Amino acid sequence: MSEKIVLTGIKPTGIPHIGNYVGALKPLIEMARHNKTYMFIADLHALNTIHDAAQIRRHTYEIAALLMAAGLDLENAVLFRQSDIVQVSQLATMLMNVTPKGLMNRAHSYKASVDKNTAAGLDTDAGVNMGLYTYPVLMAADILLYGTDIVPVGADQKQHVEFARDIAGYFNKIYGETFKLPEPAIGQDTGIIPGLDGRKMSKSYDNTIPLLCPENELKKKIMRIITDSKMPDEPKDPDASTIVQLYAHFANADELADFRARFAAPGMGYGMAKTELFDKVNAALTPVRMEYERLMANPAEIDAVLAAGAEHARAVAEQTYNRVKHAMLG
Ligand code: TRP
Repeated sequence: MSEKIVLTGIKPTGIPHIGNYVGALKPLIEMARHNKTYMFIADLHALNTIHDAAQIRRHTYEIAALLMAAGLDLENAVLFRQSDIVQVSQLATMLMNVTPKGLMNRAHSYKASVDKNTAAGLDTDAGVNMGLYTYPVLMAADILLYGTDIVPVGADQKQHVEFARDIAGYFNKIYGETFKLPEPAIGQDTGIIPGLDGRKMSKSYDNTIPLLCPENELKKKIMRIITDSKMPDEPKDPDASTIVQLYAHFANADELADFRARFAAPGMGYGMAKTELFDKVNAALTPVRMEYERLMANPAEIDAVLAAGAEHARAVAEQTYNRVKHAMLG
C-alpha cells in the first residue's frame, strides 16, 4: 500500500462504453486496490452542460452502481458525490482570487468553444457559461481539498491537473505552504481500444459496444464488427484484426496466444472468431451487469455507500478549508 493519495472525478454523463471501461475504469479500480483513493462523481462539473436535475441524478446512481459492481474496493476508496461536500464550492470561491484570468483563457475546452464560435462567425463567447469558463478552478478545488498526490486522468484532462498545480503554487507563494502539488497520471499501457469499425472506440464515431446492455444486444453488436471478406481457410493477420485486439483486453496471455494462433491458421472464420470474442466479453461482463442491476434496484444501498464516503471526505475537506480560510481571512 503506497502512501500516496490518489484522487479522480467522473462526470455523470451516462454509462461508459466498453472502451472507457477497459481503458479508464478498470485501471482506476485496480489502482484503488493499492492506494488511498478518493473517487467522486463530479455532478457539479456536469452542470455546465446538463440543466436537468433528474438526468444528473440518474447518471450519478449509474456511475456509483457501476463502480461498485465492477469491484471498487471500498476499504481503500472513498466513493462520494462531489456536491455533498460544500467545502469544494467554498474552496473554489477562494481559489478564484489567486487564479489569473489568462490561465482560464488558455484552457483547451474553453478554447475549443471559442474556436468553434469563431469558425461559425459567432460572438467569441457565444454559449459559454461561467461554469465552463471556471471549470478548471472547481477542478483545482477538488484536487487540492484532499491533499492529493496523484490524479489519474485521460490525456484530455492533463492540462486541468497542471492548472491545479499552478493554482496551488500561486496560493502557496502568497499565503505560505498550504497545498501539496498534485501530478497527473495518464494511463497509456492499455493501447487504443478499437470500435466496431476498427477506429478508436468513441461515441463520436458511433462505433461503441455498450457495457451493460442485455446479452443478446451485446452479441448483435459484436457480430457486427467490420471485417474484410476473407474465407475461413484463408490466412489472417491477427495484428490487423479488431476482433483480436478486443479479445486481448478480456483474455489472459495463454488464452490470447491460443486465439491468435487459431485465428491466423486456416479453419477459423470471422463468424467463429466473433462468437468466441462474445463468449469471453460476456463472461467478464455478466457478473458486473448482474450486480449493477441488483444495485440499481436497491438505491438505498448506493445511498449508504455515498453517505459514508461523504462523511469521510467531509472530515478531510473541513480541515483543509479551515486552514485556507484562516490563511486568507484570519
Ligand atoms: N473534468 C474531469 C472529466 O471531465 C472530471 C473531474 C472533475 C475530475 N473533477 C476532477 C478528474 C478532479 C480528476 C480530478 O473527466
